[in-house]
Amino acid sequence: MSLKNINPTKTSSWKSLESHFNEIKDLEIKDLFKKNNRATDLSISWGKFTVDFSKNRINEKTLHLLINLAKECDLENSIKKQFEGEKINKTENRAVLHTAVRANGKEKIFVDDKNIVPSIIESRTKMKNFTDDLISGKIKGSTNKKFTDIVNIGIGGSDLGPVMIVDALKYYKSRLNPHFVSNVDGDHVLEVLNKLNPETTLFIIVSKTFKTQETLSNANTIKKWLISKLGKKSVYSHFAAVSTNTKEIENFGINKEYFFSMNEWVGGRFSLWSSVGLSISLSIGSDNFESLLNGANQMDKHFKSSSIEKNIPIVLALISIWYNNFFKCETEAIIPYSQNLNRLPAYLQQAIMESNGKSIDRNGDKTSYQTGNIVWGGTGTNSQHAFFQLIHQGTKLIPCDFIGFTNPLYKENNQHNKLMSNFFAQTEALMMGKSASEAEKELSHNNNIKGLLPHKVFEGNRPSNTILIEKLNPETLGSLVAMYEHKIFVQGILWNIYSYDQWGVELGKELASKLLQEVENKDIKAHDDSTISLLKKYLDN
Ligand code: F6P
Repeated sequence: MSLKNINPTKTSSWKSLESHFNEIKDLEIKDLFKKNNRATDLSISWGKFTVDFSKNRINEKTLHLLINLAKECDLENSIKKQFEGEKINKTENRAVLHTAVRANGKEKIFVDDKNIVPSIIESRTKMKNFTDDLISGKIKGSTNKKFTDIVNIGIGGSDLGPVMIVDALKYYKSRLNPHFVSNVDGDHVLEVLNKLNPETTLFIIVSKTFKTQETLSNANTIKKWLISKLGKKSVYSHFAAVSTNTKEIENFGINKEYFFSMNEWVGGRFSLWSSVGLSISLSIGSDNFESLLNGANQMDKHFKSSSIEKNIPIVLALISIWYNNFFKCETEAIIPYSQNLNRLPAYLQQAIMESNGKSIDRNGDKTSYQTGNIVWGGTGTNSQHAFFQLIHQGTKLIPCDFIGFTNPLYKENNQHNKLMSNFFAQTEALMMGKSASEAEKELSHNNNIKGLLPHKVFEGNRPSNTILIEKLNPETLGSLVAMYEHKIFVQGILWNIYSYDQWGVELGKELASKLLQEVENKDIKAHDDSTISLLKKYLDN
């Protein structure tokens, strides 16, 4: 049974939303607060999370209609299909089960009539033992020294998730120092190698396919470097690998004990919970890795079992569709008020844009409506001094997610109130703005009131969600990431697209490998004029 194929714009809820949009598009959020209890009615408290979505250009009717849209698009059944291992990734004929690899191991999940849970537990145990033995020093390098550094070699989903989590959870770090090599830019890998002692470094090649040009080039460069320092035999003790491609792993010379398998039903950009998270487990220790999985699993349960109106990922997805398809907003900003979440926007760019950047629907037809949002962002308060001007006073409407933590990591941190005052002030300012009369009052002693006044006015009515979490730790981070994963799923279901393939990145890859041959042979073939003249310039150098 595959996903239903429902064009959202043909539903009766969509039509009602269109006329409702015309009724409320000019309403001011601050006026909507005149109604009692908006702040509590339009927020969800769940475990260590409070999600306040009251500062949005929505009212009860909007939510009601959006919820109807979700129902008309068969969302509830689609969620079941995903969790039960239906092959909902139809263009690749695969199930979508990143939720299974973080499940608690008590349930049974079937793919092709086989319960996959025992193999998940087995691979989790292998990872745990490897992590514990490497951190304790039981597993050593070829010259019998303990490992001090690990290097994750991967790109896209085999890099962005691990690097984001490792950076976010550095407060919980093990004694190992993590490094990441991703870009095919040789300067990147060489800079990382410069800092490392080969005798005490473990390299982990992470590639679902083991075919990715960037990862294989970096792995081979590193292999050569290692052999030049420690000899051929060292490859066996200094390389580990994560992949579905057992054959290529053997050819590379990886020790079987250091090979961690992957399943095709875990998509690359959703794979940090699987063996792809080996660098995470090594960087924060196996107990913290378990907590990360547990946090995600709790969000999975919330997503599966909560009613739509109290379901955090669904509500966030519906609000996002409201802005994308009715207000015609093109982008959304993600602003974590934690420097440790610096890499979250980049991680979410792949997760969201590679998943929902599609223009063909599940019927194979071109969509007549907008799909995937453009996602961007940066940490607060740094972003306030960078791009916030445009969010406050620019011509574009940019819905924002503000993510903040009630408690800092360090007890001695006496700046947290400052950070969080900025956090609360920004969402309030975006909504309230500053009227001409308020601005005029402030300028009363200025002799250029007339000239300055229009520049000092803030229209306000700019929407945001506030996601307030008790503390940044493995568990809450797991829940936060899973929250966004499910938001992606809901949007894909409602937009009637396939969120789990990524054919759009293939064309560039194909052309790059053809071009590489031409560049290496200095033999330029037929291209457009611009490409030919640029290639000539490059080769003439
Ligand atoms: O960018 C395309 C992509 O296929 C991603 O989906 C994936 O995360 C990345 O390449 C890396 O692929 P692999 O893990 O197979 O090396």
